[in-house]
Amino acid sequence: MATERTFSIIKPDATRRNLTGAVNAVFEKNGLRVVAQKRLRMTQEMAETFYGVHRERPFFKDLVSFMTSGPVVVQVLEGENAVAKNRDLMGATNPANAAEGTIRKMFAESIEANSVHGSDSAENAAIEIAYFFAGYEIAP
Ligand code: TYD
Repeated sequence: MATERTFSIIKPDATRRNLTGAVNAVFEKNGLRVVAQKRLRMTQEMAETFYGVHRERPFFKDLVSFMTSGPVVVQVLEGENAVAKNRDLMGATNPANAAEGTIRKMFAESIEANSVHGSDSAENAAIEIAYFFAGYEIAP
């Protein structure tokens, strides 16, 4: 399996509790390298665009409000099979269903405040990385 990149967000519930380093430690222990990272506050427009596929879902408005409620850390992770590996490390969307040892099991507060985002495919990873990062900001 070739080296692959995925896009990650450490969400406002995790930055609020000062868990950026704890989340990154999980990535680094498991062979994912943080090759780009920056902390920013998402605007409403950014959050609505980023989660646009969920626009018609009942939780959309609350999700946008949560994602803009505090700073996030956007990241590019690189490693073997990075997309699937990160999804495994994150655990299920709802922390009540997440496996032991996963980031969401350890840190998430609720299905909404679930600490991390990770791309669900290599195609979406490329789109999400391009939305947040210029090429020169990614340093493998
Ligand atoms: P989704 O893409 O289904 O999950 P994942 O983040 O695991 O890829 O949903 C995106 C985000 O929407 C999810 O991380 C949290 C939020 N969400 C809710 O707030 N309520 C819900 O019922 C669902 C399904 C998601």
